[in-house]
Amino acid sequence: MTFDELKATAERCTSCSLSQRRTHVVFGEGNIHSPLVLVGEGPGDNEDKLGRPFVGRAGKLLDQAIEEAGLTRAQIYITNTVKCRAADWSSGKPVNRPPTDEETLACRQWLVPQLGLIQPKVILCIGAPSAKNLIRKNFKITQERGKYFPCEYAKTAIATLHPSYILRAMNMGGDGGYSLLVQDIAKAHEAAVRLSTPKVGATGQELAGAPDLPVC
Ligand code: URA
Repeated sequence: MTFDELKATAERCTSCSLSQRRTHVVFGEGNIHSPLVLVGEGPGDNEDKLGRPFVGRAGKLLDQAIEEAGLTRAQIYITNTVKCRAADWSSGKPVNRPPTDEETLACRQWLVPQLGLIQPKVILCIGAPSAKNLIRKNFKITQERGKYFPCEYAKTAIATLHPSYILRAMNMGGDGGYSLLVQDIAKAHEAAVRLSTPKVGATGQELAGAPDLPVC
């Protein structure tokens, strides 16, 4: 299946109940040839309305961090763990909630082939749900962010703080961990560049990457 065919098929998905209330499937956007892919948690209200990832308040903060890390959004690919908005409708009005394990599992049928077609060198997991899905179920975001981990879908994966968490933490004063977000994006990008640069070894063999990166 081509990338466009996968996207078109995902846009018709009815595998879980999130499909019943969605406006758009937010498949992802950006450069599908990028060695760096950012994977968030799932679309919110603005993303559901526009069909694009990270376009609300958290998205604006992420854009700012991407720029401060010396990148542009167009250079990289951005997607989410689940492609439809997860919300609690019990009060009549939608209130965002984290996706359930079942919803996350159902959406792996899109995320895994999506990553398989892009073949990124580095995945940057934005927030704990993404890291638990792609790195390790018991991932501890505050202790383990900013470190390289083996990952089935890239040469290596790093996780960082979610911009929504940072926005909430900023309300208590300070930068809420924003400088760590910038630092982790820069580190992930640097690793992606290093792992994309072929090195010619003594035997003439191409040796990808650098020895201090865990390659799986
Ligand atoms: N939060 C996410 O995790 N993803 C989005 O696309 C928007 C907000």
